[in-house]
Amino acid sequence: MIRLSAITPSGQVHLGNYLGALRTWAREGTDEDVYFISDLHAMTSSHNPQRLRSMTREQLAVLIASGIAPASVCVQSDLIRELGALNWVLECTCTYGEAARMIQFKEKSLGRESVRLSLLTYPVLMAADILLQGTAEVPVGEDQLQHVELARALARRFNHAYGDAFIVPTAVVPKVGARIKDLSDPARKMDKSAQNSAGVVFVLDDPDLVRRKVRRAVSSTEGIANLTEILASCTGKAPEDYTSRFADLKNVVAEAVIEELRPVRDRTLELLADPAELDRIRNAGAERARERAQHRLNAALRLSGLS
Ligand code: AQP
Repeated sequence: MIRLSAITPSGQVHLGNYLGALRTWAREGTDEDVYFISDLHAMTSSHNPQRLRSMTREQLAVLIASGIAPASVCVQSDLIRELGALNWVLECTCTYGEAARMIQFKEKSLGRESVRLSLLTYPVLMAADILLQGTAEVPVGEDQLQHVELARALARRFNHAYGDAFIVPTAVVPKVGARIKDLSDPARKMDKSAQNSAGVVFVLDDPDLVRRKVRRAVSSTEGIANLTEILASCTGKAPEDYTSRFADLKNVVAEAVIEELRPVRDRTLELLADPAELDRIRNAGAERARERAQHRLNAALRLSGLS
């Protein structure tokens, strides 16, 4: 059974991404799964090409360093030809109404006509990501459920109209996914593209910087709850086990975070210093994903009257 998830290179990987997603992919994923860097999705809003390239590379290194099986990791744009072809077929299966109904599009576009057209159409590309790999399960947060529902609708519609090409995927919302909040504004989730990075611990931050960020964390009830959640997530205990307040909670949290991230940070830096090894892993992952995609893409093209 193939599971598929992605991270968008819209910024550096943060503690929330790691505790809420990457670590689970590493612990529960299998070689069969697909974990990819969605660099094409990062182009749906204004982007800087050099930064996109370097963030993609950095995230690839972080994913591998997190312990995710290298064979299951790839970069989305390495499959751009296959995805581009399937994306067109699926756009011809999707209605404008369906795309325009996506809540994320409404929230992010705010009715502005100047937004990129790809912000409207990217859920169809996401359906192509999912269907091309023969995905059975897509672990997602609540905010992405509607997009997986669209992928399901398109798979069913295509199969019904032209013949069976696609596995209809299922969305799974992870039961105990930690939702890590911004340390300086615990009303917001920790965010890669936050305006102010003071409350965002990045996986590659050096230990001193982590200490400074944690020490400056807001000490409101919400802020303390967030620190407790982080501590519990790093130590594997339930947050309730920390109800007796530590006098020096922030120091304890800072050290726990530093220890949790240390091997990931060290391995990421090693990989970034060895571009040939990183390229080798990237090419092997792309090759594997391409091979797996090929027969399904060929079937979809043939059934829709192409090739
Ligand atoms: N704060 C968080 N706590 C727990 N999990 C989180 N994730 C993101 N933020 C937190 C999970 O990380 C995975 C990859 O995220 P994404 O690239 O899809 O980005 P996102 O969810 O839109 O949030 P980010 O990382 O803050 O990025 P931007 O700035 O681009 O919005 C997902 O599994 C996500 O649930």
